[in-house]
Amino acid sequence: MTDRIAEIRAEAEQAITTAADTPTLEDVRIRYLGRKAELPNLLRNVAELPPSERAATGKAANEARKALEQAIEQREKQLAAKELDARLVRDRVDITLDGDPAPHVGRLHLITQTRREIEDVFVGLGFNVAEGPEVETVYYNFDALNHAPTHPARLLSDTFYVAPVTDIFDPDAFLLRVHTSPMQVRAMEQQPPPLYIIVPGRTYRPDNDATHTPQFHQIEGLAVDEDITLADLKGTLLHFARAFFGDERDVRLRPHHFPFTEPSVEVDISCFNCDGAGFLRDGSRCPLCKGEGWLEVLGAGEVDPNVYAHVPTTEANAPGYDPEKVQGFAWGLGVDRMAMLKHGLPDLRIMFENDLRLAEQF
Ligand code: PHE
Repeated sequence: MTDRIAEIRAEAEQAITTAADTPTLEDVRIRYLGRKAELPNLLRNVAELPPSERAATGKAANEARKALEQAIEQREKQLAAKELDARLVRDRVDITLDGDPAPHVGRLHLITQTRREIEDVFVGLGFNVAEGPEVETVYYNFDALNHAPTHPARLLSDTFYVAPVTDIFDPDAFLLRVHTSPMQVRAMEQQPPPLYIIVPGRTYRPDNDATHTPQFHQIEGLAVDEDITLADLKGTLLHFARAFFGDERDVRLRPHHFPFTEPSVEVDISCFNCDGAGFLRDGSRCPLCKGEGWLEVLGAGEVDPNVYAHVPTTEANAPGYDPEKVQGFAWGLGVDRMAMLKHGLPDLRIMFENDLRLAEQF
């Protein structure tokens, strides 16, 4: 009988080691250790054997069962690990693959892109970015910027005042800033010269046509130091024009008037559509500059000494802005207008209509 047990054990051990996967191993277990299998049967019937065989048979059968149980357990662990590895390889997900269908990726609005592009140019020249309030006081928007009480921009028809407006000459009355220039005085109140800042932000005027929207965006520039001349302004803006519109651009200054700059200028860049010629290769008039060869892009000038006079000397900005000592230049440019020019948009208003067909082009 012990021979038969040894035989079964050898056969079973062989089956266990060759079982290639867990279901096969389970079959092997049932075949050799299951309820109807020979070995357990033998064990159950030990009592019916002749007394002389009982002990040896019982012992051998018991040992064989334990050995097989152990062998199965071990093999099961091996197979389970192997099968897990295989499953991990099979189920691997490449999270870097595009979705299917490709997900809709958002993007920055053209105005945000343009604003950042312009900021980068001036930050590269050493200007710092400063931001100010969109709801301003009459003082910072007009008075401190040297606007006469009779200046037409102060009228209710030209500026959005914030209700209740009882007196548009009250310096503390609130309005939606008509330009980013109020930050000139605010910034000078906060820090001493030399000052080199740009001020991006929203501005508001009651206009609405193809080239004006009630809410628009400006980037103010202000440089205050010693011996800053109009030539420095021109050089700065020439650098900007070339960085933004192309290396071949040129700039020209035309006399103008702003209450807070003296002298004041309007700045034109040579037209990038016709290379400043005013006409195209086929001889037709350039539609962008309308034959001028120049595009008006911004207003600027040397900071009027009267503006410095509005900046009190405090601990924060000591030694202050002495009009006899400091000089500077400022400019204000329209971000929306820059984007419109550069990308050939026919109407400024389409930038605020949220039509995806426009958004997706940039
Ligand atoms: N604030 C002026 C405007 O909005 C532009 C400007 C800024 C002009 C700075 C001169 C200096 O029209």
